[in-house]
Amino acid sequence: MKKQVGIEALAIAVPRRYVDIEDLARARGVEPAKYTAGLGAKEMAVADPGEDSVALAASAASRLIQRHGVDPSRVGMLVVGTETGVDHSKAVSSHVQGLLKLPRTMRTFDAQHACYGGTAGLMAATEWIASGAGAGRSAIVVCSDIARYGLNTAGEPTQGGGAVALLVSEQPDLLALDIGLNGVSSMDVYDFWRPLGRREAVVDGHYSINCYLDALSGAYRGWRERALAHEVVRWGETLPGEQLARILYHVPFCKMARKAHTQLRLCDLEDAPGRESTPAAREEAAKSPASYEAQVASSLGLNARIGNVYTASLYLALAGLLQGEGAELAGKRIGLLSYGSGCCAEFYSGVVGEGAARRMAQTDVEAVLAKRERVSVEEYERIMKLPSDAPEPLTPAPGEFRLTEIREHRRLYAGG
Ligand code: CAA
Repeated sequence: MKKQVGIEALAIAVPRRYVDIEDLARARGVEPAKYTAGLGAKEMAVADPGEDSVALAASAASRLIQRHGVDPSRVGMLVVGTETGVDHSKAVSSHVQGLLKLPRTMRTFDAQHACYGGTAGLMAATEWIASGAGAGRSAIVVCSDIARYGLNTAGEPTQGGGAVALLVSEQPDLLALDIGLNGVSSMDVYDFWRPLGRREAVVDGHYSINCYLDALSGAYRGWRERALAHEVVRWGETLPGEQLARILYHVPFCKMARKAHTQLRLCDLEDAPGRESTPAAREEAAKSPASYEAQVASSLGLNARIGNVYTASLYLALAGLLQGEGAELAGKRIGLLSYGSGCCAEFYSGVVGEGAARRMAQTDVEAVLAKRERVSVEEYERIMKLPSDAPEPLTPAPGEFRLTEIREHRRLYAGG
């Protein structure tokens, strides 16, 4: 039997505070419906300087190890996907290894390619295990980021922060990946970037949406070509994309998942052999609200409450989907689209494991969110203005980590 490799378990970490998106809209003199209906947001995580990408990554990885009884001596690789790292040289993964006192026998590195870095790490870990190079060991891949555009910018309501830690192994209780089917589309574009020394991203917002959709088309078509060849999907009464039980997208804001799904359907409708239709009819059919509700909507609950988490956004959608529907999706194939600006997109698929519901109950994502505190827009603005090198002296919650001080260019952290 072919070796199964994929995601065995996951855990999340989020900043302790969030702002209600309608409060933010009112403070900005914007009709709240623009943020709620227009962007699909509800709440937005607010990270303070103590909650940097290291602290969030360590908190998520620690929770993964504790909640799922991971034996660190069986972990041979630790990868952190992030585009908001804290040093030009020292890896976030080294900090995480140190904070969690993980054994020295593991390969550790960061993967950076905007929001695609986490998926790059997941694929490196999956292929390492599948090739046999891991010799039966597991990998931990942590996606950790703080999405920051700044006060009073168009991107402001699409900020957020957090981390998702994934345990990758030969026991894929959450998702067994279809190795060899992945489709990729990459090219050199300036749609979203963050020059060295800047805390806030620079973004050409509407262009970035077009880049995402264009890259999605190439990545999906690449996956579909291989999936058709392996008879994982087929042209028939239903479109190939419709044969996936759910499709998860990179979610910079929830409405983007709807645009992405329309684009994916358009690819199928344009390419379907023997179907006579006009471009206008295809565009209308691509928008199908029923298809969006059936295949996408149920995955967006956590994204709407946390906001953009760059590398982790796709994996928050996975967590959101499986915490609600892990049991009913067991044995079913889902599709996943990762997008990183700059840009690189990858479409891949996998089969939800029989252990998904049990693993998600064990990880208890809701308990993590329930501890958060809602803050006013004034408090959010105060936090945003804090210098990144002077964290507030707050005690970390049990099992979590915070940056406490930067001394002689060395970052010091405390665990709760
Ligand atoms: N009621 C309901 N809907 C309303 C409304 C109202 N009163 N007012 C406006 N809307 C709708 C608009 O019609 C629009 O919907 P459609 O896109 O479906 O037409 C939506 O609200 C947003 O309105 P605008 O396009 O006018 O908003 P904007 O120009 O102020 O900014 C944005 C939107 C470009 C997404 C901006 O928030 C931004 O730059 N965000 C950061 C960039 C980003 O997230 N890019 C995504 C692709 S890149 C990527 O994915 C990588 C990554 O993580 C960053």
